[in-house]
Amino acid sequence: MSDSLAQALLTWYDQNAATLPWRSSRDPYRIWLSEIMLQQTQIDTVIPYYTRFLAAYPTVEALAAAPQDDVLKLWEGLGYYSRARNLHKAAQQVVATHHGQFPKTADELRTLPGIGPYTAGAIASIAYDEATPVLDGNVIRVLTRIHAISEDVTQTATKNHLWGLAAEHVPQQRPGDYNQALMELGQTICTPRTPQCQSCPVNTLCEAYATGTQNQYPQKKKR
Ligand code: ADE
Repeated sequence: MSDSLAQALLTWYDQNAATLPWRSSRDPYRIWLSEIMLQQTQIDTVIPYYTRFLAAYPTVEALAAAPQDDVLKLWEGLGYYSRARNLHKAAQQVVATHHGQFPKTADELRTLPGIGPYTAGAIASIAYDEATPVLDGNVIRVLTRIHAISEDVTQTATKNHLWGLAAEHVPQQRPGDYNQALMELGQTICTPRTPQCQSCPVNTLCEAYATGTQNQYPQKKKR
């Protein structure tokens, strides 16, 4: 049984999901690449880089075998080059120690360079249907509004609280679509400024909206 938030978000996602190149595949290599590029870069910027990168390196083996300078050259303009160096290192690790197969759980994915809790949760839920949460800035904003959480989100204790809440909401069915729906709600409707609450598929479940306080979340310092 999954909760009403998950149900409402999945229904919304079915009708509104953006068509994005990484959404047409369950290949963990492709999901991984998209999530690394999307960590610090906007979707519109990522798309052409993503397409070029996959044309050059269609498999994890191809990436592992490439010279690092070539990988960095393809990354030029995206910034945060440690992402590209870690990507390359992780590809070599997958080939050398996992026979070219990506680890199959979020916990194991986290052993790869550049894969933290967010990226591990995204890959495991999207590629493998593991009912595991994601928590990034968008998800933090959505959850603090829905639950009217006024704790300081820069604190580790608050992050842990939010990871726990995020985990409670993840449905067993379609966890990857659910996680992406949550991200997309944060990108399109539950935005930092002037959120479009009237069009929100989960406004009836939102404590902040009920009290007209959506602009007070997320809280960055305890009042
Ligand atoms: N941001 C990071 N990963 C994403 C995804 N899979 N879909 C939408 N936005 C994202």
